[in-house]
Amino acid sequence: MPSAKNRDAARPARGNGKRIPLRITDTTLRDAHQSLWATRMRTRDIVGIIDTIDAAGFYSLEVWGGATFDVCLRFLRENPWERLRQIKARARKTPLQMLLRGQNVLGYRNYPDDLLDRFVALACANGIDIFRIFDALNDNRNIEAAVASVKRHGGHAQGTLCYTTSPVHTVEEFVRIAREQEQLGIDSLCIKDMAGILSPISAEKLIKALVASVKVPIQVHSHMTSGMATATYVEAARAGAGAIDCAISVMAGFSSQPPVETMLAIFEETEYSAELNRDALREMCRYFTNLAPQRQLSHHPSNIIDPDILEHHIPGGMISNLRSQLAQQNALDRLPEVLAELPRTRADLGYPPLVTPTSQIVGVQSVLNVLAGERYAMVPQETKDYVRGLYGRSPAPISHAVRRRILGREKVITCRPADLLKPMLPNATDGVDPKLIQSEEDIISYCLFPEPALDYFKWRALPTEDRPPVPADIERRAQDAAQTPSGPPRPFLTPQDYKELQNVVQKVKELNLSELTIRRGEVSLTLRGADVPAAAETQGAPAPAAAPQPAREAAPAPESPSAGAAPGPAIKAPLNGTFYLSAGPGKPQFAKPGDTVEKDAPVCIVEAMKLFNQIKAPRKCRIVKFLVAHGAAVSKDQPLVAIEEMG
Ligand code: CO
Repeated sequence: MPSAKNRDAARPARGNGKRIPLRITDTTLRDAHQSLWATRMRTRDIVGIIDTIDAAGFYSLEVWGGATFDVCLRFLRENPWERLRQIKARARKTPLQMLLRGQNVLGYRNYPDDLLDRFVALACANGIDIFRIFDALNDNRNIEAAVASVKRHGGHAQGTLCYTTSPVHTVEEFVRIAREQEQLGIDSLCIKDMAGILSPISAEKLIKALVASVKVPIQVHSHMTSGMATATYVEAARAGAGAIDCAISVMAGFSSQPPVETMLAIFEETEYSAELNRDALREMCRYFTNLAPQRQLSHHPSNIIDPDILEHHIPGGMISNLRSQLAQQNALDRLPEVLAELPRTRADLGYPPLVTPTSQIVGVQSVLNVLAGERYAMVPQETKDYVRGLYGRSPAPISHAVRRRILGREKVITCRPADLLKPMLPNATDGVDPKLIQSEEDIISYCLFPEPALDYFKWRALPTEDRPPVPADIERRAQDAAQTPSGPPRPFLTPQDYKELQNVVQKVKELNLSELTIRRGEVSLTLRGADVPAAAETQGAPAPAAAPQPAREAAPAPESPSAGAAPGPAIKAPLNGTFYLSAGPGKPQFAKPGDTVEKDAPVCIVEAMKLFNQIKAPRKCRIVKFLVAHGAAVSKDQPLVAIEEMG
């Protein structure tokens, strides 16, 4: 639990001629490797250096968050709770910190209060001291339960302002939000500049206004994307922020945090002092320099600074998502149109800050607005829920015309969104083999990330020698093979890869794993339990396989065996994705063969870009036959459902 000293941290204490302490949070083990290494750091990587990091004298270590948790289960086959326990066992001096998505906990939607509270209780029990709690919309109704839980379980609750610019994001508005959070009982306040667009002068104005209006200490979190963050931190400290977030130099810069060594050198000539152990920093730097070749993405950014972000304000991670989403749709050439559409969509939706999950919603909606050729012709469930108010209150009102177009006459909710949710824990693991669940932490993992958690539990249940390779290792080998610099272009799959793939496919089948993605450059291949045989046949043609191709030409998804022209009228896939007959496990099928459905009735789902797009009946019709299996990959314009026109 944090000591009284930690509760005071982040507040600059002015002494008589003495230097003012500046607290530094180290983000190397969370945000830095999430920003630069796709969150692929292993627990053993962390354990190998944690004693040194603990000895460096940081105010806190940010070690946990949504992506680190998800990636542990999904790609590394590690238990995120075990990682936390191992860090806590060694980091005895420095408080551990996590990033909590308010009512979204670690996920992309609201969870009921009972789950949130048990999550916080167990996070505290396993070693988290400081919880940085944010809501993507800065809607404080979405953080109030999290703040209360953290206080109840003895943690330090740090409130957060998600920083963005728009006509409604004024200094006065940020101060209002901060005051409201202070009323909720936060211990400190973070200005979270996820895109790295907070300028030094804006930081000075904002922090001066906050210092004058709230009593809690202020911390600033920024990214180096636009190149301003080091200067911003200097102005922030001078304006009264007592703490800043940095990463060790080798894992700093680009879309990560400013380098700690640089900030120390800058502050050395000021009245601010951050007493860090230089030897420990040098050792950290050596350690991560040696680790980088194994963990860094092969397509590490070559431009150090992205000046475009100063124009469009779209976070770097989001642009790479848009790029891969467009590649999946064979439409990479439409990126400029999407970048032009995005600010319009964001304005329509009331200027949400672009951070998980609103970045995903605004990003995918913009892609769909461009690809469909008509704005809001295709609207995924998540956008509908957002417009309904289920994610909270948008900073500015949503465009009336867009709301009418998406919801018709349906009402928008006005209560705290989580008030609509029933407790989740009583039947959380119904239907899961009880032998797979070993602890209450497992139940929470399953509630937050059902499929990856279940895959991990099944993998863990196997004797060590029978466990299939970890997805991240397969991905890495594929990437290394593709990056071999000399010689003729490498085929997507070498004979060796093919052999390995066959073993993996066998395991995927045996274990009934839900999915496994293998990436090589821009090309990715997702194997799913349901379509493994088809995938293996299509992609795994023995060498010589096709040379790597640009993403436009590459077929990202294997064609389903039942694909092919349907004889009669059919409902076609509006985009590349995965076909589902129902809205999720345990949900009823939308329609069955023989059913008559009305115009606009949902018939099936094509999941694309992680969002669920309901496919509706174009007119009143009878369902003749589903042409694709549940869970199969489909490509744009592929017939999905044979129908018979009515009347
Ligand atoms: Co960040």
